[in-house]
Amino acid sequence: MQEQCDIGLIGLGVMGQNLVLNMADHGFSVAAYNRTTQKVDDFAAGPAKGKSIMGFYSPGELVKNLKTPRRVMMMVKAGEPVDANIQQLAPLLEKGDIIIDGGNSYYEDTERRIKELEPHGILFMGTGISGGEEGARHGPSIMPGGSRDAWPHVQPIFQSIAAKVGPNNDIPCCDWIGSGGAGHYVKMIHNGIEYGDMQLICEAYSLLREGLALTNEELYDVFAEWNRGDLDSYLIEITRDIFSVKDPKSDRFLVDVIMDRAVQKGTGRWTAESALQLGVPTTLITEAVYARHLSALKENRVRASKLLRGPEGAVAQFRKSVDRDAFIEAVRQALYASKICSYAQGFFQMQAAGEENGWGLHYGDIALLWRGGCIIRAAFLQKIKEAFDRDADLENLLLDPYFNEVVENSQVAWRYVVSTAAQVGIPTPAFSAALAYYDGYRSARLPQNLLQAQRDYFGAHTYERIDEEGVFHSDWMQLRREPGD
Ligand code: 6PG
Repeated sequence: MQEQCDIGLIGLGVMGQNLVLNMADHGFSVAAYNRTTQKVDDFAAGPAKGKSIMGFYSPGELVKNLKTPRRVMMMVKAGEPVDANIQQLAPLLEKGDIIIDGGNSYYEDTERRIKELEPHGILFMGTGISGGEEGARHGPSIMPGGSRDAWPHVQPIFQSIAAKVGPNNDIPCCDWIGSGGAGHYVKMIHNGIEYGDMQLICEAYSLLREGLALTNEELYDVFAEWNRGDLDSYLIEITRDIFSVKDPKSDRFLVDVIMDRAVQKGTGRWTAESALQLGVPTTLITEAVYARHLSALKENRVRASKLLRGPEGAVAQFRKSVDRDAFIEAVRQALYASKICSYAQGFFQMQAAGEENGWGLHYGDIALLWRGGCIIRAAFLQKIKEAFDRDADLENLLLDPYFNEVVENSQVAWRYVVSTAAQVGIPTPAFSAALAYYDGYRSARLPQNLLQAQRDYFGAHTYERIDEEGVFHSDWMQLRREPGD
């Protein structure tokens, strides 16, 4: 009888294949299955050849060839395919066996699946995986959640294949996140933050390209420089690289021939929807989602561009008078300060969701497992880890002494950039949302006293007072000054 495999994986897309190869490289034997069996054959005869990987043509065969408790990981499209695979698998498994969903599933679906499998004794783990194809192959960031009892059985595999960080490169970017849908929720927030980071970078690009008319070569140098400092991150690095790529079909740069119409798979929108449901201000990520929606209205924008005027001649005037190097530095500072606000909002939302769902999240550890492997990996996540080490119950990242100081020191530049953008007519929704959030969050008094008055006036919705406990209503019509009095 052939030896049983350590883990099974269903779904041999690029991510699935790369995870299997990564597991095999780390000494685990893997059983692999894909619905289209040709993929199994191609994989077995190709990249998997000579490795501890066995291909199977049915879930039944796959399950039969696994050690107990059986560990089956699905790398299939989120939504219906996940349920379809669970339906096939569940009758083949026994009490104590484990199903892992490694896709970008909606966290409430994960919670439902855990409950559905519970009566059968099958342990379910909703696991976020980030890092794209390269990450999956050479070390992703892994965010496992769901059944706590399953974790010890999966931990050695996941922690060996995950990216490693730390001075000795031995801290895995993978740790237990929490119960229920916590793993997928945290991955969703990761993606929301990814949307925010990408939008901020796009706005910086727009300010430098439309504002200063920097060439792609100059943009390459600016991003290369930025990547050596506080902004050191994967997304800044790939942006730098993008500015160096020529279009093989023309003599232009590839980035200049790409249509300015963004698409999305929806995880950023889920983050914004969840923020609205929780009642927390995740403004920057939400603006980043809207910015994609606005970009998608390409035909409308082209029509409107012929009819709606901006500040005539403002860009030309700006270019004449601006100190280019000082403006580039101001954009860098505005980008960093805005990014800090974005992470402050993302962590605030995670804290709210964690509390509401009783997930017991550890925010410093989450920052650490985003330190490497994932799309938002960045040197600055170490600072977030340190902030939560200083205060595990930190209310808002902006209140941490390090972040407080950075934002405070950046604010002159940040305000200069946002006001310049407004004056010359360059849209910067994420930079502006971040600044408005900062100003709102640091305001002991906001104008919503007036809003409450309006609500009470037209709908008797009542209001609270600053000098007395309780809920009040006024007869505004009776008390008001009569027009003309
Ligand atoms: C990752 C990414 C990945 C996602 C892309 C694309 O962490 O590796 O988040 O999971 O597929 O971000 O997402 P959009 O299509 O929504 O931009």
